[in-house]
Amino acid sequence: MAPCPAAGRRRRNPAGSGRSGDRCSCRADRCPGLRHGLRRDSAAVQVGSRTPRLLPALQDHHPHRPGARIPPLLQRLPPRSGNLRPFLPSPRRLPWCRRRHRAGFTTGGTNVNHAAAAGYRRPLPLRQGFSLVVQSTRDEAPGVRSLALASPDGSPLPEFVPGSHLLVECGATVNAYSLTGSGTVPSAYTITVLLHDGGGGSRFLHGLRPGDRVQVSRPRNGFSPQTTATRHLLIASGIGVTPVLSHARAAAMWRQPFSVLYAYRHGIAPHVQELRELCGGRLIECPDRPVFVRRLSEALTHQPLGTHLYVCGGTSFVESVIGAARGFGWPEERLHREVFDNAVLDPGQPFTVHLERSGRTVPVPAGISLLEALEDAGLQIPNLCRQGVCGECRLTVTSGVPVHRDSYLPAAARSSNTVIMPCVSRAAGERIGVDL
Ligand code: FES
Repeated sequence: MAPCPAAGRRRRNPAGSGRSGDRCSCRADRCPGLRHGLRRDSAAVQVGSRTPRLLPALQDHHPHRPGARIPPLLQRLPPRSGNLRPFLPSPRRLPWCRRRHRAGFTTGGTNVNHAAAAGYRRPLPLRQGFSLVVQSTRDEAPGVRSLALASPDGSPLPEFVPGSHLLVECGATVNAYSLTGSGTVPSAYTITVLLHDGGGGSRFLHGLRPGDRVQVSRPRNGFSPQTTATRHLLIASGIGVTPVLSHARAAAMWRQPFSVLYAYRHGIAPHVQELRELCGGRLIECPDRPVFVRRLSEALTHQPLGTHLYVCGGTSFVESVIGAARGFGWPEERLHREVFDNAVLDPGQPFTVHLERSGRTVPVPAGISLLEALEDAGLQIPNLCRQGVCGECRLTVTSGVPVHRDSYLPAAARSSNTVIMPCVSRAAGERIGVDL
């Protein structure tokens, strides 16, 4: 295949001027040139210089009005992908980051939710991660400590999308912790750890001192800011403030409209001082439940069109906020959540899994996860968190209906019933088929 003539050249007007000269004329299958990417990307780049930014935002509002006529320009847009993209420019576009990206660094590309301070039964060594050194520790609140992790030689770390998390090896377990920085040119990764009763991982991290080594994964994300949002409503409870702090830092840095609703118990409010300095009047503090309920209702009813809501906290808190937002008519596509404590899952009913490619059938007893049953049958399924948050173990469903118990899959993927996270999810009936 002939090489792309556009390769290596810079695109002058990425928004798309509509001139045919902006499109790549190469016939390479996998064109490395930006121009070819423009051509494949969408019809939007061909319809005028201002439309690419505007149309996706308009498209976002159409689910509000079922039956409404969709303008031809919106019909020409490609279907929205389930992949979340940050509202920030790609680090590759930042001049001071280009050199590092050329050197091979990338941000964590996999969409992953996190479950802070939760351990795995069978931890895996973190592949493709790196060893960092504890630079400093700080007590943020009683039982809450933040750690700054830096490269041992002081070199800069890969950037990350706001709301990302790290998997951290904590002795015998591997836990996920949100990064609290903005993600732009980080000299250290900062995480905040809530000490759990009996939580071996959190106790291990609270015991670390400056100079100690810790093994971490690359940053991963499933809670990114949305590119099409006209405003960001960030809601957090307790230790759930950590990814919200990351979002708020980035939004403030890039001058994005946002506000933060922070619910905490009196006297236990990690990072509240940083948020006050960062947000000023955009921070709404809720030290008790009645105040939170009132301020949440106000926040949900007084947002401009195009606002996206991001909530992080415990399961019941997140569900109550999402339920309230639905009650006020917020569309599902504008609700983003991250749950940091998975409720204890019930053992579920026994079922069988049919392996489509090999023709085998494997029984899954109550109290044993589908992933464990498959492993016991001699199959190797990639996995990391084993709690339905990292997305690593995803399998394709070929028959049957799953009961989704993960916090990774977006709503559209759940309702399609074509994928399952076998580490936590089960079958709705007596049998399910997977592509193995
Ligand atoms: S192993 Fe992480 S979602 Fe299943």
